[in-house]
This record gives sequence, C-alpha cells and structure tokens, in this order.
Amino acid sequence: MSLTRRTFLARTAAAIAAQGALRTGVVAQSLLARSRPAGSGNPLRIPKEIPGGNLAISTTSVQMLTGAETAILSINAEFPAPTIRVKKGDTFSANIINNLTTDVVLHWHGQHVPSIMDGQPSQPIHAGASATVTFPVVNRAGTYFYHAHTDMITAEQVYRGLAGLFIVDDDEEGALPLPRGEYDIPLAISDRRIDSNNQLVYSPTDDDHRTGYVGETICVNGTPSPFLEVAPTLYRFRILNASNARIYQLAFDDNSTFRVTASDGGLLASPIATQTCFLAPGERVEIVADFSKLANGSAVKLKSLPFFHDGPQYAPLPQGAEFDIIRFDVTKTGDSKSSLPSTLSSITPYVATDAVEQFTWELGVDGMDHTINGKAYAMDRIDHVTPYNTLARWTFSNTFTTEFHPMHVHGTQFQIVSRTGGELMPSDQGWKDTVLVRPGEAVDVLVKFADYWGTYLVHCHNLEHEDHGMMANFMVDNAGAVREDSKETGGIELSPNPAMSDVTISLPNERESEWVELCDLRGRVIRSARVSTGASQVVIAVADLANGDYIIRCGAHVAKLVVLR
Ligand code: C2O
Ligand code: CU
Ligand code: CU
Repeated sequence: MSLTRRTFLARTAAAIAAQGALRTGVVAQSLLARSRPAGSGNPLRIPKEIPGGNLAISTTSVQMLTGAETAILSINAEFPAPTIRVKKGDTFSANIINNLTTDVVLHWHGQHVPSIMDGQPSQPIHAGASATVTFPVVNRAGTYFYHAHTDMITAEQVYRGLAGLFIVDDDEEGALPLPRGEYDIPLAISDRRIDSNNQLVYSPTDDDHRTGYVGETICVNGTPSPFLEVAPTLYRFRILNASNARIYQLAFDDNSTFRVTASDGGLLASPIATQTCFLAPGERVEIVADFSKLANGSAVKLKSLPFFHDGPQYAPLPQGAEFDIIRFDVTKTGDSKSSLPSTLSSITPYVATDAVEQFTWELGVDGMDHTINGKAYAMDRIDHVTPYNTLARWTFSNTFTTEFHPMHVHGTQFQIVSRTGGELMPSDQGWKDTVLVRPGEAVDVLVKFADYWGTYLVHCHNLEHEDHGMMANFMVDNAGAVREDSKETGGIELSPNPAMSDVTISLPNERESEWVELCDLRGRVIRSARVSTGASQVVIAVADLANGDYIIRCGAHVAKLVVLR
C-alpha cells in the first residue's frame, strides 16, 4: 500500500538521512558566472557506453569540482552515469544491484517494454537486493533516457545522479551521412545547488515543491561550467534535459541557425531549421550544428534564452533566466565528413478522425499535492483504461495551474496535434513521449499502445510534481487476449483475462511444479493453489484483489494476469 502524500516530507527526510548524503551549507552563488570568459571552465565529460549487464547502484564520491569530492548516487561507480547503447532488435538485459539503504527503481524512459519491466514505483528493488530486467529493443534509433523512478524519492535520486542516456541505433539511422563518433556528442543538461563544501544540496522548501527544484550550477554530463574543443565542421548533439524542473530555451550565442533532426522517439521526417528550441525535463532533441564557418581560436556558446515564469523564484538562478550552458572552443582541425540530408525518415501521421477514444488529463494543485483529474497518485489505483492498439486523442489540460508541466507517457510514443497556446514547437515534432504543457494551455496528442498491454504511467516530468502526486496509472486493456510473450515463455493459458472474479489457469502438460502461484509485480506470492494429480487446470479467485497486473507462475512457466472490474 502506498503512503499518503501527507507523509511525504517525513519520509523524504528519513530517506535523505539514511543515505547519509544530507549536507547543510551555504549555496555558492558564485559558481556560475552567467557569462563565462573563453578559456575558463571544465572539459566536458563524456559518459562511458555499455550495452547493459550489471548496473550497481551505490553512494560514491567523485571529483566534480576542484577541492572536496562530491557525494553522488552512482551506477557502477561511474560519473556521469554510463550511457546504455543498444541496437534495435537486440535483447537488452541488466542486473540492477541496489547497494543503497533505500529502495530503488530504474525506468527506461521512452522504451516500449512490458509493464513488468518498465521500472514503475510499484516495482521497487529493496536495499541490498538485486533484480534482472530484460526486454527486446523494439524502439527505433534515438536518444532515450534511463533514470530512478522510486516511489516519492524519484526527484532526489535523479538529482543525486541516477540518470543516464539510453541510445538506440538501427539500420535506417545508420545509413544516413550524419555526424558520428567524436562528432556525435551527448549533452545531458541538469542544474544543481552546490554548497561551499562541493556537496549537492537537495532540501526543497514548500515553494520548491510547488514550482520544482532548480539550481544555480548548470552541468552538462555532470560537468559544471563545461567546454568542448571542436573542429570547424558539422556536429551532432544529442541533448537531454535531465533536470528535475528547469526548462531550457536552447540557442547559440551568435544566433546561428541549427537543425533539429530528432526528437524523443528518434529521427524527424526532415530537419527543422531554427534558432531556438525549448526543451523541458524528460525531453530530448538531436541537433546538427554547422561550425564550419567559425575561425580557429573562436568560441560559440550554447545558452538558454530568457522566458517568462510566474510564481516563486530561486533567486540565484530563476526558472526562465538567461545563462550559458556549454562553450565550444574551435581549437581542433578535422572534418566529420558528414552532411544533412533533406529527408531523414518517414513518419506516418496519425489521422485525428481515427481516434476512438477522447480523454482529458486535467492538471491541478490541491494544497501541497499536484494532481491529475483531481487525484494525487496512488500506486494501486488505476485511473483510466484505454483499449490496446486503438488510437486515442488525449488532452493535457493546464487551465488551473500557473506551472509548466512536461507530461510524459510510458509505454509508447505519441504525436502532438495541437496546442491552444500557439504553434507547435520544433521539439513537438515527430514521435514524442514527453510534451511541455504551459500555463493556461491544453495540448492534444494522438496516442496508441500497439506493443504491449498492461499498466503504465502518465505523469509530470517535473520530478517534484511527480513525487507530489502528479502521476496516474492507466491500463492498456487487451480484453480476452493472452500475451504472446506469455505463450512463448509459458504455455500457461488464462481465462478470462482480464479476470473479474475467478481465473481458470490451464497448465502445460510438462511442468516441474504442482503448485501454481499468483504474485504481485513485486514478486510477492498472494495466492497459491495445488494442481491435483491428473488435472491440467486450476481455478483461483481474484474477486478481492485490487485492479492491476499480476503474474501467474508454475515452476518456470509464467503468464500475466490482469484483474479488472
Ligand atoms: Cu522519465 Cu515515468 O519517467
Ligand atoms: Cu518514462
Ligand atoms: Cu508539473
């Protein structure tokens, strides 16, 4: 049973104390000079790439700044967290080892995975435990993201380091003449508060819970005040907004035009030329920048342009302030031998009139809670049921709050069709899993869940909003169907599925156990039944179980059961 939101503060404080990571201190406001001179700063860190395998989560101290080391939450003791890089068609597998003293969950943001592999708050890996995750990579090439998604402590765990890039390659993208290798650079942007002892400060006030937690130190790949030495040639930047709450309006300080080539779910149909691009937490864009006209010895900065934000502000660097993100120093020679084709991919637009379902997610506030359709998140409540493989038109409506809400949907990618607040932006194009919903605005998307059915999440990717309730479970319902993967792995058949009162479980003839177990998604056995000798079926009552996904297990055979009333 999940805790109520009211216990949030107490639990958060306990979690922080348990991690031993709370440091008090004065925030060093001078760490970020808003306009840094050429020649200063720190060389951009590039995360190590791994295909999966062990992901050991621990508290580690790293040399983030000069002087004292900084305590972070690390993966495999790497800083920044490694980039997971896989190819479409591969099977991704990871063994997550939780060496913390709190629960942890890792989520594969943007990946289409079975809900039991999705890394939802209902699937914690307890302190000292480990868990394996495996799924086929069905997504197209693109820049995705993985991060902590632990009940009510997502924001703090991400802030302290549990977030990295998840890059998918495929043959379609691989055939294009885009910049690659040392000319294809990941830029995961985040903002932190850092005290005079070089420690990350995460101590949100009520105002911070309302607006989201922003910091004064802008980091790229964990590097404060970063610079990168470049050659005068074409570069590709894979940009992820890995911040808890800060929104960036990206631009180069020479106002140069760049091309957006990909968004959350990979390549756009064709590049979009622009001078600015909004990027909200959880969103990604890939851009191609042409540095070929820059003189040797010159520099250009990627910055964030100012925008209006109402409400309480963090004085050292308010939301909507103007600041530098990274400086590119033209000191190298070299040619990326790349070009930018005018057609990148093909994207079949959904047809709005095909939408069978219309549904509105109304964003709200209720005291210290952030809500969706008037309710704060409850782990065991399903707030909406949407049919499998059926086009829906969802409206994210932000008429009642003065906050920005980057809304994220698990389990699929959608297409944005309209914003009442204006034209679609460059970062709204293509396949999306996160969309910025501005104050007073309603954004409509067309969405279909064609890969898997089960329970998924919709939530605000302002992580303080998410932890404070702006999240909901919905169920992708494939009534009566038995999942193909359960057939492959099992041979167990369930009828009916979803089940309301009783489920009849038909077992394969060759089985190594006479016991059938019904487990929740944490793997806890809730029911068990013995198959009598000679029988091949057993019936289990589910009438008193909460709506949601369950696993039926008999020896090594498994199948997924949905309970739904
Ligand atoms: Cu990036 Cu549910 O999260
Ligand atoms: Cu996600
Ligand atoms: Cu929000």
